[in-house]
Amino acid sequence: MSQCILKTEHLHKNFGGVTAVKDFSFSVDEGQVVAIIGPNGAGKTTIFNLISKIYQPDSGVLTFNGQDITGKSQIETARMGISRTFQNTRLFTDLSVLDNVKVALDYGARYTILEAMLLTPRRWKHEREAGRRAHNCLELLNLDQYAGKRPSNLPYGIQRRVEIARALVSEPKVLMLDEPAAGLNPEEVFQLVDFIREIKEKYPRLAILIIEHRMDLVMNLSDYIYVQDFGETIAQGLPEAVRTDPLVLKAYLGEEE
Ligand SMILES: Nc1ncnc2c1ncn2[C@@H]1O[C@H](COP(=O)(O)OP(=O)(O)OP(=O)(O)O)[C@@H](O)[C@H]1O
Ligand SMILES: [Mg+2]
Repeated sequence: MSQCILKTEHLHKNFGGVTAVKDFSFSVDEGQVVAIIGPNGAGKTTIFNLISKIYQPDSGVLTFNGQDITGKSQIETARMGISRTFQNTRLFTDLSVLDNVKVALDYGARYTILEAMLLTPRRWKHEREAGRRAHNCLELLNLDQYAGKRPSNLPYGIQRRVEIARALVSEPKVLMLDEPAAGLNPEEVFQLVDFIREIKEKYPRLAILIIEHRMDLVMNLSDYIYVQDFGETIAQGLPEAVRTDPLVLKAYLGEEE
């Protein structure tokens, strides 16, 4: 039996007069792929920002692996095993692909700033171990051929995959992808879907949360879909049911008008 890894209950977030997220409750099981879809400004990214603790909710409860994490910090949740990518690429252009992946492990580093400056044995041990893990992760995801390259010299589709590798290197329990297909051409989107499928196979217990603007992209990938509009969940269910839900069609068609 798969186990619930992440749960939100009645999450609420206001920005001034705007209710970005209203009464958002959902749950994600280990190994499950859950999509959050909806038009621009629906509150999708804010949900990720609340889960990853960039923002604290105004009210509501977050539970991770059975533990209340509502009051935890960004670093604490990252260390516990919640990892994410961002809507816009955030790779360090001056670092190699390998180093970009490696820096993600600094969250887990236990050495102090003083130790970092003094290059103590503990610091060196962390560096060696981080290098090894980053390399293994790139290899597992078939990205090792780009290890020494600068991200800016790589096609955007590869940069997006490197970002996902960076989010995965710490071996999180929950991986959150915010519009991973944004800015990709149709061929790259196709490859990205394959890439996410591979991740599913290689990390069978990993829960994956995907924010997507376009419904078609997540249809074949997700086990369950939540549809947000103006901060509210207007529909949820299995992909096939969501696809034909009149409220969902209205939200999407309304946007195109
Ligand atoms: N830091 C903030 N300060 C003020 N308003 C914000 C902030 N973050 C989000 N909002 C507002 O909250 C609402 C939801 O924004 P959010 O970015 O979560 O939507 P989204 O569904 O991710 O949209 P998109 O598809 O365009 O990425 C919007 O009205 C947005 O302007
Ligand atoms: Mg967004």
